Amino acid sequence: MPPFKERITGYIEDIDNYLLTKLPFESAPPENLHKAMHYSVMNGGKRIRPLLTFASAESLGVNSSILMPAAAAIELLHCFSLVHDDLPCMDDDDLRRGRPSTHKVFGESTAVLAADALLSLSFETLASDKSFGGTSSNNSSLISLISNATGSKGITGGQQLDLNAEKKIICQSELEHIYRQKTGKLLRACILAPTCFINISIEKMSAIENYIDAIGLAFQIKDDILEAEGSTEIIGKSSASDIHKGKATFPMIFGLDEAKKRMLELIELAENEISVFGEDASPLEYMAESIVSRKF
Ligand code: IPE
Ligand code: IPE
Ligand code: MG
Ligand code: MG
Repeated sequence: MPPFKERITGYIEDIDNYLLTKLPFESAPPENLHKAMHYSVMNGGKRIRPLLTFASAESLGVNSSILMPAAAAIELLHCFSLVHDDLPCMDDDDLRRGRPSTHKVFGESTAVLAADALLSLSFETLASDKSFGGTSSNNSSLISLISNATGSKGITGGQQLDLNAEKKIICQSELEHIYRQKTGKLLRACILAPTCFINISIEKMSAIENYIDAIGLAFQIKDDILEAEGSTEIIGKSSASDIHKGKATFPMIFGLDEAKKRMLELIELAENEISVFGEDASPLEYMAESIVSRKF
């Protein structure tokens, strides 16, 4: 099979087309709500979470098209979390994916409601779309995995800890705990989603759990490095937000050199873990490398 890299454009087109079929029509009332939902989803996201889901499916030998509803549901959740993350009461960011944040265009109340509706749409997509070959039992495992990643032990809890840690110096293990929850848990759901369709050995399960634990941390450290080093123009979001809010981030607390060192250590660890998959590991290896080399 050609390398995973050659299927990325196709996967992104597929997920975007599928997301469009799930989003309500922009012209359907209430128009401002539906337009805000479209704006928050169809706006140039990198689609890393769907790509991780498809890469994992390929490495585990699961037909990646079965994962389409799960990949879309996860991307919808991610978009919901970004809309809330940018609100004035959270990170107060005016720019997202190179465009004004949802609340800057539609107002705060509509942004809150659009994010709520994306959260619901995510689970509706997951629970109702069996056209890709999933069964009720696969779907209930997926719903449990993905809802756990979103609630107080996942994104929501992590976002609370992130706010609690503003203007504080915390130790590395506390910081990594926040990263695991606010960012890592949803990435973990991407990688584990294909395991809801197969029987998998304990050895392989432990390898992918360790892989994604390391990748989840590395992904957020890279995000923080990009914000500290990159320009607003390239990253498509404010490059001064963390410093302005006194966010507890790896580069802020331990410095850029330590942040880069830790990120590379985590990527190496992740790659070692999945070596048990032999040649089948290549889609997951590709994703690990692209997470560190990304420019935005
Ligand atoms: C940004 O995620 C938020 C974090 C969890 C760090 P992405 O970098 O995947 O954002 P998009 O979807 O491409 O905009
Ligand atoms: C993002 O964390 C985590 C989410 C759950 C949205 P950040 O606040 O660091 O991400 P950016 O930099 O705004 O994308
Ligand atoms: Mg935040
Ligand atoms: Mg933010």
